[in-house]
Amino acid sequence: MYFCTEQKTTTIMRTKIVAGNWKMNLDVTASIELAESISKEITSLKTENTRIVVAPTAINLYPVTTHADLDNRVEIAAQNMHQATNGAFTGEISAEMIKNVGVQTVILGHSERRTYFNETDKALAEKVTTALKNELDVIFCFGEVLEERQSNNHFKVVESQLQNALFHLEEKDWKTIVLAYEPVWAIGTGETASPEQAQEMHAFIRTVIEKKFGKTTAQQISILYGGSVKPSNAKEIFSQPDVDGGLIGGAALNAVDFVALIKAIQ
Ligand code: PGA
Repeated sequence: MYFCTEQKTTTIMRTKIVAGNWKMNLDVTASIELAESISKEITSLKTENTRIVVAPTAINLYPVTTHADLDNRVEIAAQNMHQATNGAFTGEISAEMIKNVGVQTVILGHSERRTYFNETDKALAEKVTTALKNELDVIFCFGEVLEERQSNNHFKVVESQLQNALFHLEEKDWKTIVLAYEPVWAIGTGETASPEQAQEMHAFIRTVIEKKFGKTTAQQISILYGGSVKPSNAKEIFSQPDVDGGLIGGAALNAVDFVALIKAIQ
């Protein structure tokens, strides 16, 4: 339902997405307040064909879905989940628990999860499978680190991240998957990929998907850019033909900036 696409004669209208990853920030009151402020700011805004997603930390998912008074365009996402259905995994949350508190989307593979919590492509492949089995939508993150770009290995790295974590899927599974290319060197650093670098990589990602899953899937999938997107650079990045929106960290913690990003994609 969220991923409606419209086939025109030659171009496909992809769903645009502005997603805010709040990471380990904001207590329960601040989370509810921020979600409500965003919601209020968009009431007068036309956001056609655009998904607006915010991802509070796990402990605040339930309070936000139940206590925040939100425009129904504001979707809530989890930042992570475990690949197992349930069991002895202290501190983890399951797909079913996420669904159970009224959350429809999960972010998987964020570079902070890969770097600080040793999430491997193999674990991520399992997480994606579990999420889809539980009918959760997935925002799947990947991207190269600085040395990989400097040594000109960024395309190879991105291709293998996609192959290892997503190539076991079937074509039909892609309806509820969004990709988020996030060069690690641009996350939280203030340094952004240039619009040309983002476009170049996004176009490459589409060719990788096309080779394995066909042209229609490749053309329909939304690919977000993430890494120091802010109101001052969003318009240029979002206007690239293969960039369908952004996964936002720092600038998502402030309603005015986040809504400016939503406006930038209209
Ligand atoms: P940033 O984070 O916008 O603060 O760079 C992006 C992300 O981690 O998704």
